[in-house]
Amino acid sequence: MHIETDLVHFGRDAEKQFGFVNTPAYRGSTVVHRTLASLEAAMLAHPHSSDFIYGLLGTPNSRELEGLLAQLDGGAGAVVVQSGLAAVHIALAANLSHGDHVLMVDTTYGPTRRICDAVLTRMGVSTTYYNPSIGADIAAHFQPNTKLIYMESPGSLTFEVQDVRAISEVARARGVLSVVDSTWAPALYCKPLALGVDYVVRALTKYEGGSSDLLLGAVIARTPELLRTVKLYADDLGSLAHPEDCVLCLRGMRSLAVRLQHHATSTMTVARWLQSRAEVVRVFYPALETDSSHALWKRDFTGATGLFSVELRPTSREGVARMLDGMRYFRMGYSWGGYESLMILADPNRVRTASDWRADGPLLRLHIGLEHTDDLIEDLSNGFARLA
Ligand SMILES: Cc1ncc(COP(=O)(O)O)c(C=O)c1O
Repeated sequence: MHIETDLVHFGRDAEKQFGFVNTPAYRGSTVVHRTLASLEAAMLAHPHSSDFIYGLLGTPNSRELEGLLAQLDGGAGAVVVQSGLAAVHIALAANLSHGDHVLMVDTTYGPTRRICDAVLTRMGVSTTYYNPSIGADIAAHFQPNTKLIYMESPGSLTFEVQDVRAISEVARARGVLSVVDSTWAPALYCKPLALGVDYVVRALTKYEGGSSDLLLGAVIARTPELLRTVKLYADDLGSLAHPEDCVLCLRGMRSLAVRLQHHATSTMTVARWLQSRAEVVRVFYPALETDSSHALWKRDFTGATGLFSVELRPTSREGVARMLDGMRYFRMGYSWGGYESLMILADPNRVRTASDWRADGPLLRLHIGLEHTDDLIEDLSNGFARLA
């Protein structure tokens, strides 16, 4: 089956729902069993049981979504939790203990850094940040207690694609776990498990949900043993995704392929237009031939999505504020992946410690939504006129 067909058919069974196409939300805490044997068998088999035990440990909706995600990524299974950030947290903390060391990419999502600096530090876990372009040279950063390498590809704000293949190969050879946050590219465009990683983290809040109306995350595991570790930790945190959110996310995913295609085509049109503008110094979008990550992107991805950044020529902060404040369609907001276009002013230097970021002008991060590109380009063109 092609992935587009899986997106439509996998993880639902109309016959079990009286012929209704979508599985409704199963709200519930208590799950009753008829016999002691049935209840005890379900408990014993958890987390690999197909029976239900308690609303916090799994619902028909969480199982459908987890099944679809595992199928798309080619994983042994998945766990769905209440946000992308919860998924990041679980992938890290479930696998780490006091005294362990983590290698974390410097271009990671800001709150992921906070988990390392605030939460893991208190657990007695140390973190070393590394340059996203490091590739197999990651080996130089290994310590005897290194337990896990965390990647995010492409990275937040400046979209460096990592050599996930080389890094996970080095990790595997040393018995170190590897995790990649692949939120930018849903499984339709990148399958990191096939590149060799142990876990994929996805903020389903973005493209999978697709409508900016839910928060949800997932960790997809390569093997049943790896799945067990994150699933039991998620159970302990009481962080299972709510049934309604799973229903909304599954609804979003049924149309993911067509939405992504639209985002990709429109984004390339806008990115190329931006490249032609005198106000622009650089466009950071791996699908562009001029991008420093283009070769790696071409090797490991089958598509590009709608999030990228633009470095402008030096200009005043007042000018940037005039541009942003007056936009008609691009609104300022952080969480991307919905149908609407967004733009924020970003500063990589506020978060990085292990890789240089030098730019004379401001950096804008854009998300290209599903509007017509002529309207978006007109909006940007008018915005540039307000810079002066
Ligand atoms: C790369 C990446 N990972 C994880 C997250 C966290 O997702 P959520 O907003 O669902 O917590 C985000 C959110 O912006 C993100 O951009």
